[in-house]
Amino acid sequence: MKVAVMGYGTVGSGVVEVLIKNHDTIVGRNSLDELELKYILDIRDFPLDPNSDKFTKDFNDIISDDEVGIVVETMGGIHPAYEFTSQLLQRGKSVVTSNKELVAQKGYELLRLAKDHNANYMFEASVGGGIPIIRPINNCLSANEIIEIAGILNGTTNYVLTKMIDEGMSMDEALLRAQQKGYAEKDPTADIEGIDSGRKICILADLAFGKHVFPDQVYTQGIRGITLEDVDFAKDFGGVIKLIGSAKKLPDGRICAEVRPSIVMDGSVLATTSGVFNAILVRGNALGDAVFYGRGAGKLPTASAVVADVIDCARNFGRTKMIPWAENDRDFVASNDTLSSRFYIRAYNVNDDSLAGFDRALGIYKVLERKNQLPDEFAFVTEKITEGELKEKLGGMESVEIKSLIPVTDY
Ligand code: HSE
Repeated sequence: MKVAVMGYGTVGSGVVEVLIKNHDTIVGRNSLDELELKYILDIRDFPLDPNSDKFTKDFNDIISDDEVGIVVETMGGIHPAYEFTSQLLQRGKSVVTSNKELVAQKGYELLRLAKDHNANYMFEASVGGGIPIIRPINNCLSANEIIEIAGILNGTTNYVLTKMIDEGMSMDEALLRAQQKGYAEKDPTADIEGIDSGRKICILADLAFGKHVFPDQVYTQGIRGITLEDVDFAKDFGGVIKLIGSAKKLPDGRICAEVRPSIVMDGSVLATTSGVFNAILVRGNALGDAVFYGRGAGKLPTASAVVADVIDCARNFGRTKMIPWAENDRDFVASNDTLSSRFYIRAYNVNDDSLAGFDRALGIYKVLERKNQLPDEFAFVTEKITEGELKEKLGGMESVEIKSLIPVTDY
């Protein structure tokens, strides 16, 4: 079996490295006749690269070569990755990807195409980098009804928040370091604004709940508004702020999906997930909670998951592996207004009247303190309340300036 890699960036070059370095082990352990890299597609030139004889700029070289049975798509973005993937699947070639944007947007359609042509479309590396999570949901946990999935799905933002929490570093400086280490997306807006986590929670929700959820159906809030003041107040409450992507099944069978900074209490596995690490908690009705933890970004960890999918495609060549994922149904995703939790609030211009108002309207569960607190700065945690009710009640308190509003998780 010959393999092609499209996109020689961080992940693509890692895939090439692992395929070549571990070739004998991969072929031997999996009883494969052969698994040989034949092409690398990229529009850029790499004259000094040891694999320079394999480079092509022409997609036709790959699609028209009958020896190539598996293609790795690590180009990122929707176009032309979508067109290339569709054409390859139509030719019966299997495609493996780490491209969460494409899977989140077109996953259902591409899986159908793969099935119609006895090929496979695999995307273990699209969520959690090197952490096995797609296969466990599809296989090991398939006896469970999944009630909820929640996780730290973006290494860049977790790295930034960890630097703020552990070292009191500013967000901008921490982000610069994450970019230098190659964790961030080309445009870090996708990381910081929660868009990357949104794509990943869509993919997890698709698999866990069986229907395609589009990114525009996920309430998405990034970490831009988080300050060192919030970090300190969260510490006083005994927790840490993490960017959490979650999808939860509601009693009426619909689901609710969101990405937002959330307070996770110390002692939770998610609270101890630091730096570029990701952790994904799956709550099943038979299993209870299971947490999948590991490196969620980076060249070789992500390549590890991609190459495992390549091996799976080689083992199952000409036979489509079943992935339970149905077409989108817009009514399937409900607004997050019905979700209930405690909320952390940081407010200014608070006087005795507004304080009494907070207690009457929301219930003050705990007042928080921090070093160098400003005289008119007030932070507290509410009693449990639904998000819809909370917004309505805060709407009636115009004199108060609310700077932060963050839910407290129960995991
Ligand atoms: N930018 C992503 C992250 C890369 O930081 O998690 C892995 O998807």
